[in-house]
Parts: sequence; C-alpha cells; structure tokens
Amino acid sequence: MRVRLHHLGGLLTGAGRQRGPLRDWGDLGLVHDVEVIVEIGVVADHGPSRGATAAPTGFGRGRICWIGPASSPERPASDHSVDLGGRLLGHGLVDAHTHAVFAGDRASELMRRLAGESYQDIAASGGGILHTVGATRDASVAALTVGLLRRLDEMATWGARVVEIKTGYGLDLASELRCLDAIAAAAAARPGLSLIATAMPAHAVPPEFAGDADAYVDYVCEVLLPAMFAHPAAPRFVDVFIERGYFDVGHAARLWQAAQTAAAQVGRRVGLKAHVDEFERVGGLSWALAAEATSVEHLLASDAADLGALCKSETVAVALPLVSVFLQQPFADMRAIVNGGGLLAVATDCNPGSSMSTNLMLAAQLGVFGGRLTPAEALRAVTRGGALALGCPGGVDGALRVGGPACLCAFEVEHPDALFYELGAPPRAQAVL
Ligand code: NIG
Ligand code: FE
Repeated sequence: MRVRLHHLGGLLTGAGRQRGPLRDWGDLGLVHDVEVIVEIGVVADHGPSRGATAAPTGFGRGRICWIGPASSPERPASDHSVDLGGRLLGHGLVDAHTHAVFAGDRASELMRRLAGESYQDIAASGGGILHTVGATRDASVAALTVGLLRRLDEMATWGARVVEIKTGYGLDLASELRCLDAIAAAAAARPGLSLIATAMPAHAVPPEFAGDADAYVDYVCEVLLPAMFAHPAAPRFVDVFIERGYFDVGHAARLWQAAQTAAAQVGRRVGLKAHVDEFERVGGLSWALAAEATSVEHLLASDAADLGALCKSETVAVALPLVSVFLQQPFADMRAIVNGGGLLAVATDCNPGSSMSTNLMLAAQLGVFGGRLTPAEALRAVTRGGALALGCPGGVDGALRVGGPACLCAFEVEHPDALFYELGAPPRAQAVL
C-alpha cells in the first residue's frame, strides 16, 4: 500500500555531511514544495545490522518510494493520502543513550545535591546507582514494563522513534534478565518505536560483591553476559562505566572480550559502548578508541589530545547535556568535536540519578545553548549522530531518501527554527505512519 504525505511545511531530509560544521537548514537538507510517498507492508533495505527484537517496527514496515514536487508527472499513484496540515516532516529522533528501565526514583538525592553533596558522595553513602538497583531487584517484569512504557511514550511525544535502552540496575542474573524481558515486552507493545537493547551489567559493583570489582567482573563475564546475549531482546551492544570507584580499563577489556564471545556463541555480533570521562579521566577514552568502540559517552573530563584522537576516529562521541544541567557540571566540548570533524550524537541519558528526563528535544536545545552547536548541528546529532551511535539499526541512518526506511516524524512547526527558538515548548512531534 502506498501512502502519500502532502501539504508539508517543509521536508528536512537530513542529507548532507555527517562530520564538520553545518551553518543552516539547507546544510541539513531542508527542502520545500515536495511530497513523500511511502510504501507500507514491505521490508525496507535493512543493511548489515538486524533489529533488536523480532517485533516489526512502524518504519521497518515502510520504505520511502518517492520524494518530489506534487506537480511532477513522475509521481507514483498512491492508495491513501495524509494531509500534514503545513507541518514540518523530518527524520524521527534517535535517542542513542538511555537507562530507561528501572524502578523507584531518587528525587531525595536531587535535593541533597542541590544542598551541596556531590553525586560521588551520595553514591558512597548508599545512594546512587545501588539505590535504584535495590528498587529494580524488587520490581516485577510487569512493573518494570509499565515504567519503561511511560517513559517511552513521553520520549515519542518529543519525536523519538529509535531508543537505546541499557540494562544495569539489576546486576544479578534474574534481575538483568527481567530488565531485558521488560525491553522485549515494551518493543512488542510499541511497534512504532525501534528499541535497541544494550547489556550494561558493568554499571556498578553490587552489594554482594562490595569491594571486589574483580570478582564481580568474573561473574559478569562467566554468568551474566552469556545469558544476556542468549535472551530474545538480543542486546546489540555492551556498555561499561569506566570511572574511579566503578570499573577500570582492565575490567573493560575483559568485559568486551567476554561479550564478543557470548554474542558469537549465539550467532550474534556485539558493538562496544563505554561511559568515559564523566567525572575523572582514568584512561577510558583512549582504551575505547583502541578497542574501536561504536560510541563513547559523556566526555566531560576529556582532554584536548584525547578528543582530537576521537575526532579522527569512526567512534561516535555521545554528548549528554541534560546530565551537565542535572549534575551542575560543565558541558562536553561539543563545538570542538564538530569543528574537529568528529561524529557527534546528543542523547538524553534518561536515568533516575543523573538525568531524569525523557526530552531529547531539550537535550538538542542544550546542545545549542550550552554546547554552542548550531541548531542544524544539534538536530543532526539527535538523528544521524544517534543512528551512527547505534550502528544504523534497520538501515536507519538519519537521512530520508528514496529506498530508505520511513523513519518519519511530523513536527508541529512550520520551520525548524521554531524547534530551538521556542525553548521548553510543549511536545510537538507525531509519528505519521
Ligand atoms: O550515565 N554514569 C553511569 N550511569 C548513569 C547514571 C546512573 C545513575 O545515577 O543511576 C549516567 O550518568
Ligand atoms: Fe549513561
């Protein structure tokens, strides 16, 4: 079936360079007076990578078969028409970094931090990640799924169509698998979203291994990762928190090796992600670059030499500006990454401790107002950058083109300037198919 999308305020195709500065919307493929025809019910060209779950996704079932002026004699016939009412049509947003499956909340920690305690001090006194681990271990799959769906539904209203979700608040076999169960259940319940699972049992050392990160890493490598990669939610990535008091590069190297082995045992491939330089520089970024990580996250404490090497690599820099606001830290040097020719994504890091927000559009706005990106660079970072940070799942690469997946989003604005000018505006995105 062919669906004609017409009466667009404009089409932001995302075409253009994936590295380097962008000045204006023309650099990101803004075109006017065009229509889009989508063929639904066909499998789009999925490229080399496979979906995170067996569940079909909205755009996975749709392929763009025509973009051009309404008056063109070559416009193919269509079975249905959708009038976009002058709204802007663009690529769906890609949130490439979330910890959205968890139970409980840490609002009281926010108050402690605002009164002067640091994130690290709160973690050392029994709060932090381990507080959420306790609540998550007590939660059923059904409860975890309800919370996850609520957050995903919010994300979708801001424009997200592809969302990465890390485990990492279970930290034992049953609880990490329940987190994957919740991700699989959410994927089945929201076929219009594409969910990408990441295994992150190396998020913190749980209480039963207190003081013995080495022994916990043994357990993760021998028990957790083999079971997680055999789970139907099929994690596409493994992630590790490389930071003082959490895991070091020696642990990370063992985890990465074990994840590749575990994935290969079930005939899958796994990509590497790493949380590096969030608070201190402990060598995580150079290790991750040497390991050819798909992406590196945070980068608040990175030095210029490390960032220079990152910019020359194929590894995507994932900036998380909501964390900088939430933890009252400086922003990652997004301007330097773009100027240096690096691949940049911006994501929410939605989690209960350092970024309790589902709003990827706000993260993009902070990329402009805090990270000194141009609006076009910020929007590229939450579409193309995010897609690259996820290995272009299902062929989604942040650009809309004939033959590509119809990962589409309509924004309740006529011009993309309004997405940045109207700071903190209400949700304005709608899936159109
Ligand atoms: O990305 N740094 C590690 N993980 C999260 C924080 C998780 C938490 O505080 O619960 C982050 O900032
Ligand atoms: Fe994170």
